[in-house]
Amino acid sequence: MMNKVTQNKMLAAAKKAALHAYAPYSDFKVGAAALDEQGRIYAGCNVENTSYGLTICAERAAIFKAVCAGAKSIKAVLVFTDTKKLTRPCGACLQVIAEFGENPEIILANKSIMRRYRLKDLLPERFG
Ligand code: THU
Repeated sequence: MMNKVTQNKMLAAAKKAALHAYAPYSDFKVGAAALDEQGRIYAGCNVENTSYGLTICAERAAIFKAVCAGAKSIKAVLVFTDTKKLTRPCGACLQVIAEFGENPEIILANKSIMRRYRLKDLLPERFG
């Protein structure tokens, strides 16, 4: 389990990224932060498209950024939305997270709550 400082850094990164979310179609802004094996944090936001299916979720944006920067594995992913109800990663994002970590932490956050899970709580069995 990661320490509080790292967790707070991830929260700050995800919050900041959510401000940059491009979500004119859903008006649902999501920010994510991915922590790699070296302790580096990468932020992502959802980026929508007028051709809806091309939309990318914040979680995958963050993970792909990490991989492009040389991350070898993902230790934790934090998802932030400024909503009352916490946002859970979609099935597609869970499968992508599973590609880069054995059983990483998944932290769901809004402005007042943080709930910690493990990937396997949300995706007990993955494809592959
Ligand atoms: N979305 C995310 O970015 N992450 C999630 O965990 C859930 C959904 C985005 C996709 C789309 O831009 C918007 O939220 C509404 O589904």
